[in-house]
Amino acid sequence: MGHKICRIPGDDTGHDVMRAAMIVFDALGLDIEWVDADAGWCMWEARGNTVPPETWEVLETTDACYFGAITSKPGVKGFKSAILQIRQRLDLYANMRPVKPIPGVPLNYRDDIDMVIFRENTEGLYSGVEARPMPKELIGILPNLERFAELDDVAISCRVFSRRGCERIVRAAFVHADRYGRKLVTAVHKANVIRMTDGLFLEVFREVAKEYPGIETSEENVDATAMWFIKNPQFYEVIVTTNMFGDIISDEGCQLMGGLGFGASGNIGDSYGVFEPNHGSAPKYAGKFVVNPTAMILAGRLMLEWLGEQEAADRIWNAVLKLYADPKAPKTYDIVGRDKAAGSLEVAEAIAERL
Ligand code: IPM
Ligand code: MG
Repeated sequence: MGHKICRIPGDDTGHDVMRAAMIVFDALGLDIEWVDADAGWCMWEARGNTVPPETWEVLETTDACYFGAITSKPGVKGFKSAILQIRQRLDLYANMRPVKPIPGVPLNYRDDIDMVIFRENTEGLYSGVEARPMPKELIGILPNLERFAELDDVAISCRVFSRRGCERIVRAAFVHADRYGRKLVTAVHKANVIRMTDGLFLEVFREVAKEYPGIETSEENVDATAMWFIKNPQFYEVIVTTNMFGDIISDEGCQLMGGLGFGASGNIGDSYGVFEPNHGSAPKYAGKFVVNPTAMILAGRLMLEWLGEQEAADRIWNAVLKLYADPKAPKTYDIVGRDKAAGSLEVAEAIAERL
């Protein structure tokens, strides 16, 4: 059965890695109908809207989306990140980010790391519930705001969680652990300080955990996790956490694999998924075809797995393993330094040859 896939390169090097990934997809020879759409800074400039209506239409009429990378600029009035809007409006509540180093990629650590991070993707501090100036009416309604009453220029960003939001991300993590025979699910939080939202998250985590008596659990404060990722990342199997904490620790997770060139994610809802590399659009390298396309290609692997194309997904993973196991194969500058570096497209071709 064929698949209809929305293809959004995004901005800057998002185009470079998308072109590289297409070399691999062409070589796979799957029955895929690509439907092109635009989103990101390019659309903000052209249309004043990072996700224009015709892009929503493509997103709403395809099976999945393959997404490059986008440029976001802080301090631009009215600007809303395309990817955050897509995650929220399409209700792609689970952001799944595997952390498994590829042998041959230089690391500062032992490479026997194998974890998957489940990041809540639609709520929390990224809900967009914020204001500057802070509305004075909130004083007295929300606790502890009195001490800001007399200060100039006060801004507020709210961290909003729902039981439904907590439950579905926690469940996604346990379902994954159960399906793949993982023994431990770790909840990462800061409930000792952020008592309401992370209190709810932890309460739900404990409730859902009871349905999976065969899976062990642990609970950690996020600051401790940041330290343990460096000290003993081998400990983790499945992590479940909230939006911002997941954003932060998953970049740390990329570094555990050798850098941003290796982190891929699935933004997954009940009936749609958007698959993208974790990295940004690196504007200074735009169009130079020098950035590492591996994360983008591995996002393609996650997409195929989600679409039920397990065999094709495994072919990508094995080809990437073969590339990095081969000291003579071309690699980008982040792996071999600028003098010996190959370009993004050459690396993609070398992966395609190994499929
Ligand atoms: C990520 C990115 C995004 C996020 C940005 C581009 C809005 O950092 O996917 O991790 O913060 O979620
Ligand atoms: Mg991030």
